[in-house]
Amino acid sequence: MNKEKVGRFYDVVWTEYIPEYPETEKHWELFYSEKEVKSKWVLDAGCGTGIFSIIFANKGAGQVTGIDISEGSLNTARKLSKKFGLKNTRFEKQDMLALPYESEFFDIVWAWGTVHHTTDPLRAVNELIRVLKKEGSLLLAVYTRTKLTFIHEIIRKTLVRTPRWSWKSLCKILAFFLAPVVFLFKRREKSRKGETLEELIMDWYFVPIRHYYKPEEIKNHLGKKGFIIENFLAASGRFNSTSNFIYKARKK
Ligand SMILES: C[S@@+](CC[C@H](N)C(=O)[O-])C[C@H]1O[C@@H](n2cnc3c(N)ncnc32)[C@H](O)[C@@H]1O
Repeated sequence: MNKEKVGRFYDVVWTEYIPEYPETEKHWELFYSEKEVKSKWVLDAGCGTGIFSIIFANKGAGQVTGIDISEGSLNTARKLSKKFGLKNTRFEKQDMLALPYESEFFDIVWAWGTVHHTTDPLRAVNELIRVLKKEGSLLLAVYTRTKLTFIHEIIRKTLVRTPRWSWKSLCKILAFFLAPVVFLFKRREKSRKGETLEELIMDWYFVPIRHYYKPEEIKNHLGKKGFIIENFLAASGRFNSTSNFIYKARKK
């Protein structure tokens, strides 16, 4: 499984999708304030269509670098930044497993929903740690491993093997059958305005790479790397769902 495959997937699934600003901003505010980010250099690792980069830039960060392997998403992020009239953002096609930046370059590294889509999430975390300055903060939102994870994985691993041309139709069919439980997604829909159930199914079950962790595993990893946990949300995130847990940690 290579990163080109993941990049192509996100070109299709995310290029058109920009999460709603006010809802996303509320979640950003759970972790950062304008005071904390003022004039700071920020890396938004796996920025997608750039909503968090835009928020950091609007909140007064000195420079925000959004990186992603999906060119389609990056183009949308560039357009969005232009729409906001921002001068302190730049978007680059980079792989977070091998970043071209010097060590201890950024004050803040933000990776929301991204390391678990790489071939080696802990290596990605280590690379993010490398480019983070001492005293800098790292934010990670990672998929939670639960008792039901293996069921989701059986479904995903079956569906990703189907021909690509059939994916949209399969999503429509699945959405039809899952419609009775759609109310479960109501809250999520609030913050992912514009994303249909079909798109949600595509994002969840057709993504080429998806890893899951228990919060303790990430906590232990960060501890070994000399981080102090400053904030932990067990089940929240932008979508107010139990699928992600979030750590904000500071490099000693
Ligand atoms: C679920 S999206 C999250 C986007 C964004 N962080 C957000 O929350 O709006 C995951 C993103 O990670 C990116 N990604 C996956 N593997 C990557 C890698 N190795 N290097 C950089 N970006 C990667 C994907 O292309 C995709 O845009």
